[in-house]
Amino acid sequence: MSDVLALADVSVVRGNKRLLDGVDWEVEEGERWVVLGPNGAGKTTLLQIAAARIHPSGGVAGVLSEVLGAVDVFELRPRIGLASATIAERIPNGERVGDVVVTAAYGMVGRWRESYDELDHGRAKELLDALGAGHLVDRRFGTLSEGERKRVQIARALMTDPELMLLDEPAAGLDLGGREDLVSRLGEIALDIEAPALVLVTHHVEEIPAGFTDVLLLRDGKVVAAGPLESTLTAENLSATFGLELTLERVGDRWAARAVQPPRGRHAAG
Ligand SMILES: Nc1ncnc2c1ncn2[C@@H]1O[C@H](COP(=O)(O)OP(=O)(O)OP(=O)(O)O)[C@@H](O)[C@H]1O
Ligand SMILES: [Mg+2]
Repeated sequence: MSDVLALADVSVVRGNKRLLDGVDWEVEEGERWVVLGPNGAGKTTLLQIAAARIHPSGGVAGVLSEVLGAVDVFELRPRIGLASATIAERIPNGERVGDVVVTAAYGMVGRWRESYDELDHGRAKELLDALGAGHLVDRRFGTLSEGERKRVQIARALMTDPELMLLDEPAAGLDLGGREDLVSRLGEIALDIEAPALVLVTHHVEEIPAGFTDVLLLRDGKVVAAGPLESTLTAENLSATFGLELTLERVGDRWAARAVQPPRGRHAAG
């Protein structure tokens, strides 16, 4: 297997619930994937498989040419960058931002008494700069805003020079300016041919950065459709994914969606 990800009939079962159900998915080098789906669709569960954090209950999951269950995950995990809210929670509030990023190279969270190479500190600063967070390098992580934390986390996940980079809702909690800035920086990373294969999870087509190539649409643990953005991200597929009639527009290299009719009674009273 030479794929970055090769999932065949993957299921994840917890109790009597199928979080993922018969998922087939292939990600190749150089591809930039968006995973879209409503709350509870199984997106984070899918990333946990891709990050070698959990094993499938059924099917075969290939990650960076290794098969989960037949590989030492402690050797595999450093080859994968993961930025998610759960990881952020494990970062000690008192840790200096520069160290939050640098310690990633050593595969740990919250080890701050070690001394690291000048080289590593230089690279950490470069990554923070690339994400528009260079000025935060000496701040304590706990003092950062939501948006600033997201940037630091992404820099941290890139620090190990991963072969696969996984981003779980990187723009969640950001204001409009913060979202637009982050989306454009992710677009720059996506267009960099040196960048790793990327998988970005979101609820919103507005958060798909330029340069992303493919989309996987997930609903109730099942793949609704997967493939190149141009042919797969259609109003029809998006409507099926969210269970709601949607219109979809492509404006330049960005997307926008809205309901054909207000989905009354679905999420709010009235
Ligand atoms: N350990 C577990 N036991 C039972 N159900 C679980 C477990 N972990 C997750 N789930 C359920 O599985 C479903 C999928 O969860 P997951 O976190 O993958 O969804 P998601 O698509 O990331 O949702 P969101 O958009 O809200 O982040 C949810 O309904 C969740 O409640
Ligand atoms: Mg999630």
